[in-house]
Amino acid sequence: MVEEDLKEMLITGIAPEDLPSVVEIERASFTTPWSEISFFNELKNPRSIMRAARSGERIIGYVCVSRILDEGHFLDLAVHPEFRRHGVGAALVSHAVARLADEGCKLVYLEVRASNEAAARLYEKFGFERIGLRKNYYTSPGEDGVMMRLRLGG
Ligand SMILES: CC(C)(COP(=O)(O)OP(=O)(O)OC[C@H]1O[C@@H](n2cnc3c(N)ncnc32)[C@H](O)[C@@H]1OP(=O)(O)O)[C@@H](O)C(=O)NCCC(=O)NCCS
Repeated sequence: MVEEDLKEMLITGIAPEDLPSVVEIERASFTTPWSEISFFNELKNPRSIMRAARSGERIIGYVCVSRILDEGHFLDLAVHPEFRRHGVGAALVSHAVARLADEGCKLVYLEVRASNEAAARLYEKFGFERIGLRKNYYTSPGEDGVMMRLRLGG
C-alpha cells in the first residue's frame, strides 16, 4: 500500500487548509510540537519556505526552512510514521536544499537531537557535517543539540 502510494509522491506548496494534517504529523513526531499558529506564521513569513510531500491528496510529510541573506536554516522536518523509510524525508531535504541554493544560500545550518540518529544520517547523506553541540538545547526530555552545517556551491 505504501509502495503503491509513493509512486505518486509529489513535493508541493502548503495552503492554510493543509495545516491540520501537518500538525497531526508534527504531534506524532515531536515531544514539543509546533502549534498550528506557528506553522501559519511560517507560511506567511516571506523568508520561510514550506513544502509538503503528498501521496495523492494526503500529506505525508513536510519541511520548513528559512533564509537570511546567504544562510539557510532547517526549522522543521517530519514524515508521517506510516510512510517513513521510503525516501520521503530525503525528497523533502533534497527539495529544500535545492530551493535554498537557488536563492543564493552558501551555508545551511540545522540542529538535531543528539539521540536522533535517523535524522542525522539523513542530513549526512546530503553532505551536512556535525560542527558542534548546543548543551541542553532541547527540553522534554532535556538533551543536547547537534549543530550541522552544509556548504553549498563549492
Ligand atoms: C528523520 C525523518 C524525517 C526521516 O524520514 P524518512 O522518510 O523515513 O527518511 P528516508 O526514507 O528518506 O531516509 C533517508 C536516509 O535517512 C537515514 N534514515 C532514515 N531513517 C532512519 C532510521 N530510522 N535509522 C537510521 N537511518 C535512517 C538513512 O540513511 C536513509 O537512507 P537509506 O534508507 O538508504 O538507509 C523521519 O524519521 C521523521 O519524521 N522523524 C521524526 C521527526 C524528526 O526527527 N525530524 C527531524 C528533526 S531534526
